[in-house]
Formats: sequence, C-alpha cells, structure tokens
Amino acid sequence: MTAIEIDGRKIAEGLKSNILNEVEKLKSKYKKAPSITTIIIGNDTSSKLYLRLRDKACNDVRIISNHLEFQENVTEEEVLESINKLNNDRNVHGILIQLPLPSHISQDKLINAIDPKKDVEGLNPHNIGKTLNGDEYIVPITPLSVLTILEYEKTDFKGKDIVIINHSNHVGKPLAALMLNRDATVTICHVFTKDLRNYTCNADILISATGVPNLINSDLIKNGAIVIDVGIVKTEDGICGDVDFESVKVKAGKITPVPGGVGPVTVACSLINMIKTFSNCFEEK
Ligand SMILES: NC(=O)c1ccc[n+]([C@@H]2O[C@H](COP(=O)([O-])OP(=O)(O)OC[C@H]3O[C@@H](n4cnc5c(N)ncnc54)[C@H](OP(=O)(O)O)[C@@H]3O)[C@@H](O)[C@H]2O)c1
Repeated sequence: MTAIEIDGRKIAEGLKSNILNEVEKLKSKYKKAPSITTIIIGNDTSSKLYLRLRDKACNDVRIISNHLEFQENVTEEEVLESINKLNNDRNVHGILIQLPLPSHISQDKLINAIDPKKDVEGLNPHNIGKTLNGDEYIVPITPLSVLTILEYEKTDFKGKDIVIINHSNHVGKPLAALMLNRDATVTICHVFTKDLRNYTCNADILISATGVPNLINSDLIKNGAIVIDVGIVKTEDGICGDVDFESVKVKAGKITPVPGGVGPVTVACSLINMIKTFSNCFEEK
C-alpha cells in the first residue's frame, strides 16, 4: 500500500478563499476592516519566520496584522498593561502572543489576561473550557488545524481509536477534547509513556506532535492508519516532522507531509479565529 498524501497547501488555499469572501462580507456589515495585534517579546528567529507567514496570510485575506514589540527585558507588568489596553481598544479585534517568551514572563498570565472575545489562539481558559464542554467556538489553532484536515478527508471519528503524542495545553489536551467531542476513543501519549508502540500500533488515526525527528517509523503504525504529523523541526537537511515519511507512507492509508501538511492549514486556521474575534467585537456572544 502507498498512502494518499494529504496536501495541506491545497486545503489552506481553499480555506483562505472562503475566508476572503467572509472578510469582505463582514467589512461591509461592520464598516471596518479586521485588525489584529501580535505581542512579540525578544528576538527569536524561528518565531520571526512563522510571523512572516502569518502576516502574508493576513494580507492575502485583507486582515490588518500589527505587531507590538518589546525588548527581551520588558517586565511582565508592562506587557499585562499593554494587553489591558489592547482589550479596551475598539480598533483591535484580536490579540495573539508570539511564543516562545523569555523565562521571566508567564505565558499563562498573559493568555489569561486576554479578553476571551479577542483571544485569536483560543487558549484563554474560558475558550479552552468551552472547547472541553463541546461548545467549540474559538478553538486552539493547531488542534483546529488537525480537525480541519481530518474533516476535509471526510474522516469518520465515531468509535475510532485515536492516539495523540503530545500532552501540551495548546496541542494535545484540546485536540483530545475535539476528538472526544466526536465520539472517538482517545489515548494521549507523552515522554513518560512506557511503550509508545503498544498504543500507536492499534491507532486508526495517529497524530504526532513531539518535535522529535523520525520518532514514528513504520513499525509503530497500523496498516492503513491515517498519520498526521504536526511536528516541525529544523535540521541540517531542512525542515522535517516526527514521522519517517518514506517508511511510513508504504504502510499508512493517508499521511501528511512536512513541510506542506499541517503547517499551512494551521496558518489558515488562525485566520478563521480572527474572523470570529472580529465578529465578537460587534456582536454580544
Ligand atoms: N504544524 C504546526 O502547525 C505546528 C503547530 C504547533 C506546534 N508544532 C510543532 O509540534 C511540535 C510540538 O510542539 P509543542 O509546542 O506542543 O511542544 P511541547 O509543548 O514541547 O510538546 C511536545 C510533546 O511531545 C512529547 N514528547 C517529546 N518527546 C517525546 C518522545 N520521545 N516520546 C513521546 N512523547 C514525546 C512531550 O512530552 P513531555 O511534555 O512529557 O516532555 C510533549 O507532550 C514541535 O515540533 C512544534 O514545532 C507544529
């Protein structure tokens, strides 16, 4: 068997064309253009690359993307004060925090300070809680991206065995909630999981988001499984994911490549959430 390669760039282009239409409709309804602000602290080069991609995507769908930049040594209080101002600024319709943050700044404190209505990344406890309750509105972006890909592929979730390798608050946990909301049987693995293969080899759908290159080889895969590779790692040979693509593609049913799989869809999903936060600023939810 050779797996069907899922084309994330094609999925993202389709999403962006719908988003552009929606932005045009909302602009004439609210007589304003959507405008989001990203808080950037310090000078991390890998986050600069991601920012460039997102800014381009925003530009493609006519969303204004502003940056609020701070030096590495900014205090937490200063950033919290700025978030408060952005929350109350009627011309700001969405707020994002660019990771990673310097160690003296608490990611949780910043995310908790964002008005849930303007929380583009869907990581504020209010939005995470809603996702967990099955009231999915502003869903964390990477889990939304995985869900969008699986839905695009017309995946039936009910009763499927899904293994997620990642237990972070922004990927694994909310993704598990999305899958449970669709009646899948979900297992979450992480670095302390005793025998990864014991779980992965029974997975109808395997989602890996570790950042460990080649962690997943064909030995860990069930025949015909859907394999979604969320990992992005920069190596000397270029960008790769968690999955040993060449070996796994002869055993899996469907597979996402890296690059060109989950990444472009994640960027498009951030635009979907921007439309939601934009609408929130004009309509009480
Ligand atoms: N494609 C996209 O759009 C997108 C979006 C977001 C992130 N990413 C990528 O996804 C990866 C993870 O990102 P993240 O921010 O979620 O990172 P993270 O917070 O460090 O999470 C990594 C997860 O993988 C687990 N893990 C690490 N090594 C493992 C191993 N050998 N066996 C089993 N589990 C292992 C970790 O477990 P412990 O916590 O116990 O160590 C943790 O749960 C990165 O490569 C990142 O670049 C991609």
